[in-house]
Amino acid sequence: MISERKIIKLIDLARKCNLCAMFHFKNLDRTQVDYKEDLSPLTKADIEVNNIAVEGLKKLFPDIEIVSEESKNSHNSLKNNKVFWLVDPIDGTKEFINKSPNFTVNFALIKNNFPVFGLIAQPHTDTVWYNYDNKAWKLEKNYKFENAKRIECSTINYNKIKTLSSLNHRTKELENWMSLVKPFKDIDVGSSIKFCYLAEGKVDIYPRTAPTMEWDIAAGHSILKAAGGNLYCDNGFEMQYGKIDFKNPNFLAFGKTDNLPSKFLMFLNDQNFESYENDMNYAVDELKKGNLIAFPTETVYGLGAIGNSEKAIKSIYTAKKRPLNNPLIAHTFSIEEAEKYIEFTNIARVLTKKFWPGPLTIIGQTKNNQFTKILSQGKSTLALRVPSHPVALDLIKRVNIPILAPSANLSGRVSPTSAEHVINDFGPVFYGEGWKLSKIIDYGSCSIGLESTVIDCRGEIPIILRHGFITKEMITDVLKTDVLDLENNDNELISPGQLKSHYSPKANVFINQKTSMENSGWLTFGSTPKSLQKHKNLFNLSPTKNLFQACFLLYSGLRYLDSLGVKNIQVMPIPNESIGVAINDRLKRASYKN
Ligand code: TXA
Ligand code: MG
Repeated sequence: MISERKIIKLIDLARKCNLCAMFHFKNLDRTQVDYKEDLSPLTKADIEVNNIAVEGLKKLFPDIEIVSEESKNSHNSLKNNKVFWLVDPIDGTKEFINKSPNFTVNFALIKNNFPVFGLIAQPHTDTVWYNYDNKAWKLEKNYKFENAKRIECSTINYNKIKTLSSLNHRTKELENWMSLVKPFKDIDVGSSIKFCYLAEGKVDIYPRTAPTMEWDIAAGHSILKAAGGNLYCDNGFEMQYGKIDFKNPNFLAFGKTDNLPSKFLMFLNDQNFESYENDMNYAVDELKKGNLIAFPTETVYGLGAIGNSEKAIKSIYTAKKRPLNNPLIAHTFSIEEAEKYIEFTNIARVLTKKFWPGPLTIIGQTKNNQFTKILSQGKSTLALRVPSHPVALDLIKRVNIPILAPSANLSGRVSPTSAEHVINDFGPVFYGEGWKLSKIIDYGSCSIGLESTVIDCRGEIPIILRHGFITKEMITDVLKTDVLDLENNDNELISPGQLKSHYSPKANVFINQKTSMENSGWLTFGSTPKSLQKHKNLFNLSPTKNLFQACFLLYSGLRYLDSLGVKNIQVMPIPNESIGVAINDRLKRASYKN
């Protein structure tokens, strides 16, 4: 994405920043340190390095917007969320003031919400780490670009885990995490240098439960990925950028591994684990008996049945009142497992390598063997997904048979993003003729809030059957080929579930609305228009027009307005770009006929 010539210029720019930072470090006058609104310190070095970095990046990439920690106005003015720079001129200002040389300069380029380039410079040693050509590199003082050293993560040895737990950022969650993982060795380094340690294979895992901002980690994330590791949020999916207020959830950065234990992700949060083992054992037993279990995934809650029992599968249809011609997604725990059930085309291979575990469902040709007989419901194609949510993954691994699961709502209605939503749809008794919902595993809200993208991977050209959290741009970016997109696809044969009317609350939904009608509630987006400020029934999907937030709140918003008993739900226009496409798709189906 960035040419070699530009990489060389970026390294020069980083070295200019290094020089400036070192000058101020040597001449630091502590009486001149200012404090920002959040009481974090601000030095002359922060400001001057910021100016050099921002001016330099502007010159090199005049068309790309820059969000920098120290350019306050850049935080609210990002116009193009698809491509932008994230800059942290000095990460580790506290260390800087305390005369510890562990501070860094950070640039990261974000494309379609993932980092594609990252550079970390350490002024004190004049070392630069960056990624280029899908590899990670380290360039030491006085070295020329041609002499950069390739770096790689080491493969995690789970019997001798080396962690990096920042002593300055101990939380109760981190203490719990450490007592679960019991590292063989734990070390402490400041600032984003942690990512360089991971990328060089000096340590295996960096857990983070104290607050961070996107510019603190994006460059490190990019370098780490190129070195063979990755950085996952607590929902098990790769960290994305351009979120609300640029704040990150808890995360785990790690080296090479095929099998990150679900518990390593779960323990990043303060959940009640006392009953977890019992709950899981019970859920597994009930699934094996042919009963239903509702469980959280990163997208929405699923209503699961074991994939080797026709009776169990049938009970999903009865419980949901789902049309029998609408097939179900099989949830499994790895690519290798998935390959038992469907023919993997090249396209399927590339997409699953990038987006699994995560919110992508692929459709493939069903393999003809003993595993698929019941699982495929007699169909020649099968939908498969490996969810990233640690609880979902743990459940599927324990059952060790794929779990068929639609969203845990009544057919045609709004999908559930919390356990409460599931209770509202299937309660109060949770059984009926031919079905029993034995347990709803409550693990809070689903952090994505919108269903997976469904993509048919059988042919030469992949076809998006349902828009979802993985956008068409992300898919095109990875495949580097055209992707068909069956917009307004109502062809029952191709995608039986894409009904024109779906995701509907009780109220009538109207999209792209500007003026109020009688007895209506509003889903607003952006600042509330003057004409609506006194309106009683409002639900704001995102005051700052952030599509991640709108996605997260969409179904709660629809359910909330419905609970007020309004006759109509009016929705303000939402941009039809990136995940806005999936949001608009759901709203269009919710509003069908209106
Ligand atoms: O995020 C999700 O995908 C959630 C969570 C629980 O994993 N699941 C979900 O399932 O949304 P459901 O049943 O609500 O939607 C599945 C969609 C439907 O549109 C269905 O028609 C389609 O996937 N589908 C399933 N099997 C298919 C197949 N063999 N060919 C084409 N479409 C298929
Ligand atoms: Mg559904």
